[in-house]
Amino acid sequence: MAPQRRGVPKAPEGSGTAQRRRRNRCGWVIALVFSVLSTKSVRAPREMWRKWLRTAVLGACAALAALLLWCSLGGDDGVTEVLAHRGEVLLGRFIEVPCSEDYDSHRRFEGCSPRKCGRGVTDAVITRDEAQRIRSVAEKGLSLGGSDGGASILDLHSGALSVGRHFVNLYRYFGDKIQNIFSEEDFQLYRDVRQKVQHAIAQAFGISASSLYLTKPTFFSRINSTEARTAHDEYWHAHVDKVTYGSFDYTSLLYLSDYLDDFGGGRFVFIEEGANKTVEPRAGRVSFFTSGSENLHRVEKVHWGTRYAITIAFTCNPDHGIADPVFT
Ligand SMILES: *[C@@H]1O[C@H](CO)[C@@H](O)[C@H](O)[C@H]1NC(C)=O
Ligand SMILES: *[C@@H]1O[C@H](CO)[C@@H](O)[C@H](O)[C@H]1NC(C)=O
Repeated sequence: MAPQRRGVPKAPEGSGTAQRRRRNRCGWVIALVFSVLSTKSVRAPREMWRKWLRTAVLGACAALAALLLWCSLGGDDGVTEVLAHRGEVLLGRFIEVPCSEDYDSHRRFEGCSPRKCGRGVTDAVITRDEAQRIRSVAEKGLSLGGSDGGASILDLHSGALSVGRHFVNLYRYFGDKIQNIFSEEDFQLYRDVRQKVQHAIAQAFGISASSLYLTKPTFFSRINSTEARTAHDEYWHAHVDKVTYGSFDYTSLLYLSDYLDDFGGGRFVFIEEGANKTVEPRAGRVSFFTSGSENLHRVEKVHWGTRYAITIAFTCNPDHGIADPVFT
């Protein structure tokens, strides 16, 4: 793999909303200790008051010491900022980061190839209902196969479906019977969702939606906590999409299940010096970003439950474009 060059991210525009988790947790307890100290009544006789004060101060010191110890041993591995909390409904959050040089070694398409780089999250593009319906399509398709390891994919474009330790071509394998499995409405929904995501990306990066082409691989994923059996199951490694798949210019993910309701672990993490930024999946949430090493990322291992998502990738190069799947 080529060395990964990364730009230093600018201070995020919406950083006021991103939370430093551990600091918040500690800040909250400190505030509590002081509010308890300051709300006690001072009407007790002087002696009593002195005694009480001594006890309170000692108690507070002990509490603070315990708290500091707790903070320094805290459960998180490093500092993590939440870019999109599972409970939030985001109308659109966008953070610009300087572009890496990854795009320079590819043919440039003016008005499309990233000059403005960054990452965005929105809950306003795909409804919960659409997410629920598209998830049913994913469940239906993936129920026909499934990896022996924890990560299965279904690609409606190429027909690739995980089965055991391999992939089969769904369309070849099932032939005409595929019409008993999927309907025209399923494919229409898939196309609609893709189109909405494409427009959201174009708008956020100030480019024309018609300059973007769907590219491969674009696929459904289903992840559970079963141990990996082959390299295809190892989804959790940090990577750069433009390095892994040369054609990608803009990557998007549409989440189809809810973090902590449907599964644990499995958060998306932008890896950065200082503090990693997480996106907590939420059904209907679209997360998108330029595909270069300014957006090095990984997915945490899923610890329990099942996580569904769609990866939808776009390229600026029409030669790398793929067509929507059609129901024939
Ligand atoms: C960010 O994530 C990477 C990869 O998981 C990890 O090695 C690193 O320690 C994390 N950084 C911080 C500051 O937590
Ligand atoms: C995870 O999914 C696989 C199929 O891909 C299945 O065989 C396995 O039983 C599932 N594991 C859990 C813990 O549900």
